[in-house]
Amino acid sequence: MKLIRTKNYEEMSRIAADHVINAIKSNPRAVIGLATGDTPVGTYEALIRDHNHYGTSYKQVHTVNLDEYIGLDKNDPNSYRSFMKTHLFHAIDLPESHAFLPNSMMTDSEEACRQYDESIRQLGGVDLQILGIGQNGHIGFNEPGSSFSMTTHVVELTQNTRQANARFFKQLEDVPTHAITMGIKNILESRCVLLLAFGHNKAEAVAQLLASEQPDETFPASALCLHPSVTIIADEEALVLADKQERRSF
Ligand code: GLP
Repeated sequence: MKLIRTKNYEEMSRIAADHVINAIKSNPRAVIGLATGDTPVGTYEALIRDHNHYGTSYKQVHTVNLDEYIGLDKNDPNSYRSFMKTHLFHAIDLPESHAFLPNSMMTDSEEACRQYDESIRQLGGVDLQILGIGQNGHIGFNEPGSSFSMTTHVVELTQNTRQANARFFKQLEDVPTHAITMGIKNILESRCVLLLAFGHNKAEAVAQLLASEQPDETFPASALCLHPSVTIIADEEALVLADKQERRSF
């Protein structure tokens, strides 16, 4: 794992965007794995600025998102498809048919998961996967206890995660109870991983991640120990606890 320390959120976002832009420059047909949440919003803003000023094109790029809530129509403002439209897709030239998210409105969710894995396979796999991290170490919606051998699957969200995400909804009760998420196996199959973290509330998870030497299913992000190409970009605040603990050298 490579660690890039940044002064703040803006610098984290700019460096993350540079990684994405470089991946697209070296392969204009790159498959980019996208995440939702507050963490990648600044990265998406930096990608839009770059697209406007320097013309990086997404015409041949494909994107696959990590997860989607079950039961929200894709046009629901809280669906992750709407999130991606608002924060990125509306402002770049990515063809709509190139943007993949799990189809969480299918009555047969298991089939939706199978189809998502098949779509990723047909795209030739993910070249660069962007990840945020949950306070409990979840990546995508792979909560503590998820088997690291799982591909795309249905998850019941923990109360902790529903509470953390309730800020986007009118009330906690409106936060869906289930989601479809790529599994840890999908994440480990991507060619490069870029994990982003900022702020004090991620300090514990980041410290635990940096101290992880063995994969441990009670802390999903520790699976990244098994991946040969992981870059963590974290700001000073997210690193406060990691700095206090003895950790491997990066
Ligand atoms: C959600 C998403 C994750 C994301 C996490 C952290 O649960 N499914 O992919 O990484 O929240 O979100 P935030 O970036 O808002 O802290």
